[in-house]
Amino acid sequence: MTVQPTDLFAARVPRYTSYPTAPHFHAGIDHNIYRGWLAEMEPGLPLSLYCHIPFCDTLCWFCGCHTTVVNRYGPVSAYRDLLLKEIGLVSAALSPDHPVTHIQWGGGSPTMLKTGDIAVLSRTLRDRFAVTKDCEFAVEIDPRGFSESIAEAFMAAGLTRASIGLQDSDPTVQRAINRMQSNEETAQAVAMLRNMGVTSINLDLVYGLPYQNIERFRHTVEFALSLDPDRVATFGYAHVPHFKKHQQLIPESALPGIEERLAEAQLARTMFEAAGYRSIGLDHFAKPGDSLSTAQREGRLGRNFQGYTSDDAPALIGLGASAISALPQGYAQNIAGVPDYRKAIEDERLPIARGIALTDEDRMRRHVIENLMCDLRVDLDSVTAEFGHSRVALQDAMDDLRSLERKGAITIENGIISVHDEWRSAVRLICASFDSYLGQPTDRHALAI
Ligand SMILES: C[S@@+](CC[C@H](N)C(=O)[O-])C[C@H]1O[C@@H](n2cnc3c(N)ncnc32)[C@H](O)[C@@H]1O
Ligand code: SF4
Repeated sequence: MTVQPTDLFAARVPRYTSYPTAPHFHAGIDHNIYRGWLAEMEPGLPLSLYCHIPFCDTLCWFCGCHTTVVNRYGPVSAYRDLLLKEIGLVSAALSPDHPVTHIQWGGGSPTMLKTGDIAVLSRTLRDRFAVTKDCEFAVEIDPRGFSESIAEAFMAAGLTRASIGLQDSDPTVQRAINRMQSNEETAQAVAMLRNMGVTSINLDLVYGLPYQNIERFRHTVEFALSLDPDRVATFGYAHVPHFKKHQQLIPESALPGIEERLAEAQLARTMFEAAGYRSIGLDHFAKPGDSLSTAQREGRLGRNFQGYTSDDAPALIGLGASAISALPQGYAQNIAGVPDYRKAIEDERLPIARGIALTDEDRMRRHVIENLMCDLRVDLDSVTAEFGHSRVALQDAMDDLRSLERKGAITIENGIISVHDEWRSAVRLICASFDSYLGQPTDRHALAI
């Protein structure tokens, strides 16, 4: 790998799971607008559903997700009732003929749910939406305390892909993030799910965690490889203690520097590629036969709030506190705090807090950013023509990118931008040049690497 100037990676840029990004959502998008968007959607348009379960039994100090720690089940069962009611409200606002091709449950930890609640939630989704026979059903799984009965309940609900949180296997790192998790527990969860017939297993790893170094992270990657996952995500730790107060429990002096973060990301890539995995976009890896690899080969790879996906449904409906919907008209986010979310549902109101309607220019820039994030390449003439413009519409970004071209990160030829493979980690910086919202006071992002 060529040496990359580390000051470049000290920049703070979004993860581009959406464009415009969430800090630019505003309260002008409310439940009435969202209801109109749902009703207006073209009949027959395929849908993807995301259900958020915002509870965990302990708090990992590095966590950036919308979650709350609970030590009894009461709040979870009360939330289940709200979620069931929201499913009713949303499905009633939609035409009944939208096929649902993908379902994902995330959190927090959906593995907090009791078996009966897994069944009732899944049954309600299937009763209220036209879920297709071959619908993918993915669940985020915390392997700590994961039991056979919970696994069976997910299987009975139609589980097809399990995404398991590994993060880091080193006890020193685990102690510093308040997440003690033995390798046996992780291996058991993988084996249990495989024995029950799950054919797609994803592992989540995080680099840049406190006390992590190259050697420790090598052991984590070796352990991950020994579990033979179908896919792996290696997220860079997003340290945003102003926003996630519990991250203040992590001593900043123990955090690896930018150079070390880069080296850890690169080590993971070298090791996964050497083991036969394909690099997918910025930070995912997949076996060549996995649907993520197929989507990448066929130019169908997409990006949503959970990362890279082969889900190509044109509309995503988010259910549960803080969940974000991405509809053809724009983005809408549910209220994040459970008390206010409950109030909206009890008043029979769609629990929308904020969002953003897409302009044609947003759609064009989003297309460019998604191409870069997924394919590390974009043909600006073809994208701008699709939106009725010429390349000149993006001239500001092109001028901005010249310095990255001079550094050898990208090539710009005949309007085609290609990110050099060894500069893959810089792709979010390249996307940032096309982000016309960046730099507004609401922007407070994590490091570019
Ligand atoms: C909802 S959790 C996964 C399921 C389950 N709660 C667990 O932790 O095993 C989603 C994933 O987001 C990633 N994540 C959470 N906080 C992060 C942060 N601050 N920076 C980077 N990745 C983070 C972790 O890899 C985690 O597995
Ligand atoms: S990483 Fe997973 S288990 Fe840990 S607090 Fe976050 S959502 Fe909960």
